[in-house]
Amino acid sequence: MSKKKYPGKSGTAADRRDRSGAGTGPVAGSGPDGTQVVSRRRLIGSAGAAGAAGLVLGAAGGAGGYAATREDAPAPLTTVGSTEAMFHGKHQAGITTPLQARGHLVAFDLTAGAGRKEAAALMRRWSAVAARLMAGDPTEGGQGHDTGVALDAGPSSLTVTFGFGRTFFTRTGLTAHRPPALDPLPAFSSDQLDAKRSEGDLWVQIGADDALVAFHALRALQKEAGSTARVRWQMNGFNRTPGATGRPMTTRNLMGQVDGTNNPKPAESDFEERVFVPSGGSSAYAWMAGGSYAVVRRIRMLLDDWEELTVKRQEQVIGRRKADGAPLSGGSEDTPMDLDRAGADGKLLIPDNAHARISSPEKNGGAAMLRRPFSYHDGISDDGTPDAGLLFVCWQADPYKGFIPVQRKLDRGDALSAFIRHEASGLFAVPGGPASGEYVGQRLLEA
Ligand code: HEM
Repeated sequence: MSKKKYPGKSGTAADRRDRSGAGTGPVAGSGPDGTQVVSRRRLIGSAGAAGAAGLVLGAAGGAGGYAATREDAPAPLTTVGSTEAMFHGKHQAGITTPLQARGHLVAFDLTAGAGRKEAAALMRRWSAVAARLMAGDPTEGGQGHDTGVALDAGPSSLTVTFGFGRTFFTRTGLTAHRPPALDPLPAFSSDQLDAKRSEGDLWVQIGADDALVAFHALRALQKEAGSTARVRWQMNGFNRTPGATGRPMTTRNLMGQVDGTNNPKPAESDFEERVFVPSGGSSAYAWMAGGSYAVVRRIRMLLDDWEELTVKRQEQVIGRRKADGAPLSGGSEDTPMDLDRAGADGKLLIPDNAHARISSPEKNGGAAMLRRPFSYHDGISDDGTPDAGLLFVCWQADPYKGFIPVQRKLDRGDALSAFIRHEASGLFAVPGGPASGEYVGQRLLEA
């Protein structure tokens, strides 16, 4: 099977970028490092079909060759299985990688007696498995018996991303290396958090465009944890499947809104600085260079109440049109919001308490984060309402310049608050990507 490669650090192919919450908009297919990833379709269009698949071009390798637009046709389904994200690189994969159709978020706690040495051995084993599976090897190769569930599939954009929770540092005696950014998130007035489904020593995010490939990776990692770590909680999510829409589009959440439009985009000059930890700074935290902080919130949607609203009311709650995600101040999805524009009646077109207004960088001293969520549906609760919503995952170089100030503001006056409930929370330090031959977190565990 031929492979199309997405580098872990940019991971944004032109033909998939637009449907991703992690990089919407009609932008060229290059990552922050200038690496260009060429979709098979675009190459066929511009350079002929021969040898089109499996190419990763460097910055000099054809920058003028193409520019993706929303009008591009979706990737043919045959490329879904063959797409590969890179395990090694400056950043871990699964941050700027386009949203995948299937996701698992899992937190582990180290077992009694497991310390730094065992944690290092586990990260080494996990990294080896993740690298192999992401490259499309359908066998676990490690502990236990492989059921062969992924045998017929390609890598299917599989990403495995590893993070460390605050308690990891106490358990491993590494508190001197615990960055202040991992201080506990403040309590918010609307929180209804379940401690058992929150936090954890270790966090793993798995994403793939095929459910069996994602499940296989999950099983492999759980088995590899052996006696070193036990699952603390697991959440399963999904997004739109590539090729499901007539053209690449920003995904919708379970409330039906176009969600991900105004995310920071890799082509923007301040993207790296907003999302990734720079090198330099205190040597105690040097291991986080190229890393990012993930805030994870299980946010239940009160769908029965939401669905009773008229579409017009729903649009006012968000400040954007439901059909196409365009701001209520006018234009199309990509038109910047005009927060001051009023209608004939003198009222603001994007209401004062609209979610998109309150969370916007303009209203939060520039605070921004890269939102990269999965939807979830865990059946029907005892009260008969759907247990469904958003596994909200957001990425930032510093939670104090991303999630925390924005959530503080949303907590005080977001029109969406009446229709959602934050039920679980986690904050994880996700180290930079491993160099070839390294395992994730080596710079911390062998510091
Ligand atoms: C279930 C819960 C949530 C839903 C359904 C939701 C939905 C949306 C939608 C539909 C948009 C407009 C389109 C877009 O730009 O993506 C949006 C924007 C945004 N949301 Fe949320 N959101 C939720 C929770 C949160 C939380 C917890 C935060 C952070 C604390 C957040 C931060 C943002 C930000 C920063 C924007 C972009 C604002 C801008 O610059 O225009 N959202 N959200």
